[in-house]
Formats: sequence, structure tokens, C-alpha cells
Amino acid sequence: MTVPLHRVRNYEELEGAQGREVFFRPQRYCTTDLYPLHCEVLLSLRGRERPGALLDVSQNGAAFEWPDGIPVAVGDHLETLAVRFDDHEPYRGEARVGSVRNLNGTRVVGVSFEGPLLPIDGILELRSVKAFAQSGPPPALWRTQGQERFKALVSDLRLYLEDWEPQLRRLESELPWHVLHGEGSPARAALIEKLRKTMAVEIVAFADEIDAASRGASPAETKAMMHWSRRHLHHLLMQAPSMHRAANKPFGYPGDYEVMRFIYEKPFEGPTLFAKAISLSFDQTRASCAVRSRKDLIKSELTALLASSPRPLRILAIASGPAQELLELFAERPEMRAPVEIILFDQDKGALAYAYRRLKPVVDPLQPHVKMIYLNDSIKRLIRDSTLFEPFGAFDLIYSVGLFDYLRTATAVGLARNLVRCVAPGGRALIANMVPENPSRWYLEYHLDWWLMYRTRAELLDIAERAAPGTRLRVLEEQSGINPFVEIQRE
Ligand SMILES: C[S@@+](CC[C@H](N)C(=O)[O-])C[C@H]1O[C@@H](n2cnc3c(N)ncnc32)[C@H](O)[C@@H]1O
Repeated sequence: MTVPLHRVRNYEELEGAQGREVFFRPQRYCTTDLYPLHCEVLLSLRGRERPGALLDVSQNGAAFEWPDGIPVAVGDHLETLAVRFDDHEPYRGEARVGSVRNLNGTRVVGVSFEGPLLPIDGILELRSVKAFAQSGPPPALWRTQGQERFKALVSDLRLYLEDWEPQLRRLESELPWHVLHGEGSPARAALIEKLRKTMAVEIVAFADEIDAASRGASPAETKAMMHWSRRHLHHLLMQAPSMHRAANKPFGYPGDYEVMRFIYEKPFEGPTLFAKAISLSFDQTRASCAVRSRKDLIKSELTALLASSPRPLRILAIASGPAQELLELFAERPEMRAPVEIILFDQDKGALAYAYRRLKPVVDPLQPHVKMIYLNDSIKRLIRDSTLFEPFGAFDLIYSVGLFDYLRTATAVGLARNLVRCVAPGGRALIANMVPENPSRWYLEYHLDWWLMYRTRAELLDIAERAAPGTRLRVLEEQSGINPFVEIQRE
């Protein structure tokens, strides 16, 4: 019967051996069982000590290779035989030959010891210690010279979080379920407000400082620092479902629409109050704020465009994700002077389905003035085929948020070029990209394995210039200051 390792059996369940095995015989160990000990037998014959390879050994006997040219027969008495394991010789004494057999051209002799028993337990212990000694010390992947400030801050943050954990657990035990997990109670609102003003402020300050301390590290140092950070903090940070999903990437890529939903809609999620507080705190970092403020920038651009254009508009959202900006825009019943057609383009069917489900109720009342089209396709095709959008006509506004940060420069230029080709005369393309100064990079990279192609404003402008030489370019800033847009204006 196999028993899970963690289950303790009671005496009534314990079994002995089965079949003939019930007749106890000392266990035989072959040399592989005794690895890494070097095992041999030394035979004193004709005044000489001759070594022979040991095949197996037990408390009361051994089998070994018999030296060439020396006769042997069952029943022979051997005056002196020693069994040696490395430098240890636990048996030296008389023995009697019990068997002689041929194994692939070698004579193998089985003997029983006639002196004291061989202490096999001690040999097994020696084997374990030697195997341990050979395995060497555990690799200290976290060790690097210097970087004291980084290490101190990470350790401090760990202690800081460990102090909060029991305090929040106590509070959690006092509060009813609806305050913790429900919606709309004044106590819940007060709790969130309090955590936002205390714990979250401190954690964001820690995150910013740790990020600053991590800058300039060499690749080898970065690797060790990542181990340091993970050993101290990962188990605490991963309690937040938003952090866990971002780190684990169930769709195989970072920033899927469910991760975006945490940032837009669900800042206070988690199975425990501590997990919720961690979610809330990392929801307040500059990178999370940038996601919301770049969405706000697009929303206000759309609002202004709809309110000002006397003629029908066409808009294209590339890598549209959950389309939060459109949900908020249409839920607020914007002023519209003419009909608008909007294409949402994303490779993820689930993201489009989610956007469709949420947009339908807010867009239906605006019919026939708003037409939504959902395209489940990839920018890979768009880069190859600049005519992909021709059937839809040219666009007054094309925007891309949270996409170029993942594209290599050559791809970014190629995509921007094909997008600009789809812009109507007088229309614009807006392309966002995070800048290297993003102070949230430490936890994004070290804990969430979320690496972006950060670009300076000059690099972003350069991509636009290469994609659309001679066009009017402008940098637009969203509120966080780390996620600018380049605006490409077609004459
Ligand atoms: C970080 S999210 C940004 C979503 C949205 N623009 C926002 O800011 O909320 C990135 C989106 O890009 C989409 N995406 C990634 N690679 C793509 C590709 N090759 N073609 C089309 N969409 C892509 C993903 O499916 C995801 O919805």
C-alpha cells in the first residue's frame, strides 16, 4: 500500500514483508547503493594482499571479483579477507566461500564472514555524509558584493510588510464578510481610504527607493539582486491576485486584459485583508497610475474629437484590450455632432468578448450614431499587409496604448508606418510608450518578470519620424509623466 508522505499511519495499518520475504535475511547492498563510497575487497593470498571489486555486501557476507590465476572452490576457507569502503575497513577476518560463478568472463565469489558482523548501518551513514559533502554548499544565488542600499531597503520592506500582516489578520477577524469582500459599506470605504493613506503610501515610497537603488547594476548584479528581492518579498507580494496573475501570465504574455482589469476596476482584491492591502498598494505605484492616466488622455482626446467634428468619424484602437476608455466615454453620454464608427483590434478573442459585453449596454442607447466593429487579428498581419484596413476607409484617429512598449524598434517603425497610411488627411495617430524613468521597474522586472521596451521621448519621436518622414509630430503627456504619446498629424 502506498501512503502519501505526509500521512502518519497508525500501528494497525503497518505491514511486514510478503511471501518468502517474511523469512528475514540481512539486506544485500550493491555498489551503486553505496555510491559515492569506493568499495573493494582485499584478499590475503600467498603472502600478498590482492584487491578485488566488490559487487555486493551485507552484514554477514560479500560477493566480489576473484583475482585471475588463483584457484577457488565452494567451501574454501579464507584466512584473511578485508572489506574496505574508502579508507574505512569495517571487516577484517576469516571467511568461507559459499558460491563461485562466472559473470561475463569474470569469476565472482560469494563469501560469508566468519568473524564479527560487518556494521552496515555505519557504512550507509558514511555514504550519506560523503554524498552530502560532495554536493557542495547550496548556491548563494542572491549573493553579490555591495548594493547595500538595495539590500537594506528590500529587507526593510519585508519587515514592514511582516509587521502589517498580523495586524491586518486581527482586524480581519473582527470585521464581517461584507466589509471585507462585499461592496458599498461605509466601513469598507473607510478601510480602503485608511490603507491607501498609510500602508500604500509607504509601500510606493519603498518601491520607488528600491527602484532607484537598483539602477546602474551590472547584469550579474541584477541577477543576484533579483534573487535577493524574491527571497525576501515574493511570497508576500504574490498574495495579491493582481500581482500573481501578472507574474504567472496564464495567457503566455504580460499585460493581458485580465491584468488590465485589476488596474482599471479591481484595486482591492484578494482572499485576505493583507492580500487586498498589497493589491491596493501596488495599484498606487506610478506604473499603475500611468495605465489609468494614459487611458484618461485617450478618453479626453476622443471626447474632444466627438464634440468637435461635424462630419462622420472613423476611429481605430490597436491592441484595444478591455477598451476601458470607450466604456467610460460612452457611459458618460458624450456630446456627438456626427456618427462614429470604431474598430477595436486585438489578437485576444477574450479581450474583444469582454469589451463587447461591456460596451453593448452603453453603446446600444446611442444607436444609430455609434457603430462598433471588433477585429480579432494580429499586428503581425498588419505589418505585412498595409491594405488590411482599406475596406473600412481612412481613420480620423488611430491610437495604440500598451503595445509599442513590447515591440522592437524595427517592428515599431514598420507598424507605425502602416498605421499612418490608414490615417485620413487631417487625421492623427497617437502612439504611447513608457519612458525609462518609470520608477516601478524594480517590482515589474524583479517580481513580475514584466520587461518593457522603454523609450525616451526622443526615441519615440524618432520612430514616428522614420515611419512618417516630414509629418507634424508632437509629444503629449499624460498625468503620471512616464507614459508619453507621440502624435503623428497627417496634413
Ligand atoms: C497591455 S494591454 C493594453 C490594452 C489596452 N490598450 C489598454 O491600454 O488598456 C496589451 C494588449 O495588446 C494585445 N496584443 C498583444 N500583442 C498583440 C498583437 N500581436 N496583435 C494584436 N494585439 C496584441 C493584447 O491582447 C492586449 O489586449
